[in-house]
Amino acid sequence: EKVILAYSGGLDTTVIIPWLKENYDYDVVAVCIDVGQGDDWGKIKQRALDTGASSCYVVDAREEYITDFIWPALKANAIYEDRYLLGTSTARPLIAKILVDYARQEGATAICHGATGKGNDQIRFELTIKAFAPDLKIIAPWRIWDIQSREEEIEYLEKRNIPVPMKKDQSYSRDENIWHLSHEGLELEETENEPNWKHMLQLTVVPEEAPEAGEYVEVGFEHGIPVSVNGKKMGALELMKELNKIGGRNGVGLVDIVENRVVGMKSRGVYETPGGAILYFAHEQMDHLCLDRDTYFFKQQASLKMSELIYNGRWYTRLMESLMAFMDTAEQNVTGTVKMKLYKGSIRGAGSSSPYSLYNANIASFTTGDLYDHHDAEGFITLFGLPLKVRAMMEQATGQG
Ligand code: ARG
Ligand code: SIN
Repeated sequence: EKVILAYSGGLDTTVIIPWLKENYDYDVVAVCIDVGQGDDWGKIKQRALDTGASSCYVVDAREEYITDFIWPALKANAIYEDRYLLGTSTARPLIAKILVDYARQEGATAICHGATGKGNDQIRFELTIKAFAPDLKIIAPWRIWDIQSREEEIEYLEKRNIPVPMKKDQSYSRDENIWHLSHEGLELEETENEPNWKHMLQLTVVPEEAPEAGEYVEVGFEHGIPVSVNGKKMGALELMKELNKIGGRNGVGLVDIVENRVVGMKSRGVYETPGGAILYFAHEQMDHLCLDRDTYFFKQQASLKMSELIYNGRWYTRLMESLMAFMDTAEQNVTGTVKMKLYKGSIRGAGSSSPYSLYNANIASFTTGDLYDHHDAEGFITLFGLPLKVRAMMEQATGQG
C-alpha cells in the first residue's frame, strides 16, 4: 500500500518518512509542492529518496498558486483580522488538492502531512482532502507519535543513521511562498517583546534602513487583476517577483499580529508580504475609482466572509465559489493603473486612472455645472431626513426621548 507524503525537506517531514515505514509498512511517495519557497528541490528530492521514500515528485505550482488562489483573494481584498494577507492560508488548499491528484495517480490509500495538532494548517489540508477524496485515510503524525520537540526529532534520525536536514535558519517556525514569508516562535511568543527585525527579516529590509529617496511604482490592472509593473506587461510569476523586490527594498509589507487561530488559541506572527502589500494598496485604489457605492459596500461584507473562509480552510465550498463569482462580476470594470510612492515601509497613493472610472470631475467640482444642480439636494435631504424629523416631532409632543 502507498501513502502520499507532503514533503518539504525540513526536519518534521524527514522524520515522518522512516516513521511511516516502521509504523504502517507503507511505500512512501513523497510529493514536494513548489509554491515559491525558493528551496533547492534537487537536493530535497535526493533527501527524500535517501531517507527511504520509494519515489519523489516535485511539482511547480507557483503559477497556479498565484492565478487561482492569490488573485481571487486580492480581487476580494480579503484580509484576516485587518492585517494578515493570508499567505499560508491560500497555499494550503492548492497543496492538498495536488496531494489528492497524486494519490489518485499512484493508487495510494492515504495522505500524510507534517502540520502539528495545534495549528490551522492541519485543518486546511484535511478539509480540502475531504472535499475531493472522502475515501482517503489522513495521517497526521504530530497527533499520533510521542515525539515532542525538535531535539527528539533529531535524536530519532540519529538513531537510524539518517542525516539530519539543516535548512538555512530554522530558528523561527517559518512558512514561505511566492506571496509571503511568515515567522512564529522565539521572542514573538511573548507579546510584550518587540520582534527582532534584523535577525528575522529575509524578504524585506528593516524600514529605517530603506533608501532615503523612496521609490515610485505603478501597477496596471485588468478586471481586478494585476497585469503590469511600471508600464511593462508581465506574467503572474514575473510580476510577483518584481513587486517583491521593489517592496522588499523599501521595507513595505511588514505585519506583526496576535491572531486568533481556528483551534481556539491566539498566536503571534510576523509576516513579510512586500509585493502583496503593494498589490492590496493598489487594488483598493482601483476599487475606490471604479466601484459604485452599493457594490463597494456589499463587497466589504463579502470580503470579510471570504477571508474567514480562507483562513478556516473552507476554500472548496459552495459559499466560497459563490463569493468568487460575485467578485468576478463586481470587478469587471476594475481596469486601469495606480501609481504609488514607497517610502521606508509606507505606501502612499500617487494618482490613479481608469477608462471605467466612475469619478466625474465635472460633477465633483466645486464649480456648478449642468449635471448636478445644488437645488436638487434640498428635496433629497427632505425625504432622506424624514424619519429623523418624525421621531423628533414625536419626542417633542410626548416628552419621551
Ligand atoms: N498563522 C498563519 C496562518 O495560520 C501562518 C501559519 C504558518 N504555518 C507554518 N506552518 N509555519 O495562516
Ligand atoms: C503548524 O502548527 O503546523 C503551523 C502553524 C499553523 O498551522 O497554524
